[in-house]
Amino acid sequence: MRMILIGPPGAGKGTQAPKIKDKYCVCHLATGDMLRAQVAKKTPLGREAKKIMDQGGLVSDDIMINMIKNELDTNRECANGFILDGFPRTVAQAEGLDSMLNAENKPLKHAIELQIDDGLLVSRITGRLVHPASGRSYHKVFNPPKQPMTDDITGEPLIQRSDDNAETLQKRLGTYHAQTTPVVGYYKTKGIWSGIDASQEPAQVWKSILGVFGDST
Ligand code: AP5
Ligand code: ZN
Repeated sequence: MRMILIGPPGAGKGTQAPKIKDKYCVCHLATGDMLRAQVAKKTPLGREAKKIMDQGGLVSDDIMINMIKNELDTNRECANGFILDGFPRTVAQAEGLDSMLNAENKPLKHAIELQIDDGLLVSRITGRLVHPASGRSYHKVFNPPKQPMTDDITGEPLIQRSDDNAETLQKRLGTYHAQTTPVVGYYKTKGIWSGIDASQEPAQVWKSILGVFGDST
């Protein structure tokens, strides 16, 4: 399984990707989580990335392509394949991914677009709660943790992301439509694109993803 999930902020990439990881024993590489780990460690990249993320912009293509290449080369969990969440976000990143995969003769199999209207994303984003260490996400209303503001698995505190406010969301959506929508077109021409309705209940979205794989189990 070698695939990517594309979709706007709050579409459900981080909700669905761990299910794919568990079912197919592949690695889940979420570039937003990787950048937030750099921010937490206060590395030079983290400091630079935080400014860009809080403005709803994109970190440079070279940095992101190298970050993914490094993970695919060294992360043993990726031996069976991978699911990329939040990458590629530009056509240049998609081309960079293709050239690294083609060099290994392991082309991408699926590019799944989570399709949803912008208007539904405000409540998803402003209600999201995150466990920073694992990237697990909850929602105050749609998927509440068992204990308020507490991760179900570790018991550690949940936080709100600094970019999860209505104002930054509008900038993130603008960036998505300008820079990432062309990536959808890129994969359509390659014949590996599938679009699914991401406004459904999470369990129904999961069924739709399995349908793309031709898997009804
Ligand atoms: P990133 O972390 O990737 O953010 P994003 O793309 O904006 O996506 P989100 O994480 O907000 O949404 P999601 O689709 O994962 O939604 P989730 O499943 O959590 O990137 C952050 C920033 O990093 C970028 O803005 C950029 O600056 C930078 N960056 C990252 N990658 C980059 C790259 N490749 N190049 C350059 N810069 C990069 O769900 C959201 C909420 O909704 C949750 O609360 C969830 O419980 C709930 N929910 C999920 N599904 C449903 C459903 N079906 N029904 C009801 N509620 C639902
Ligand atoms: Zn996410």
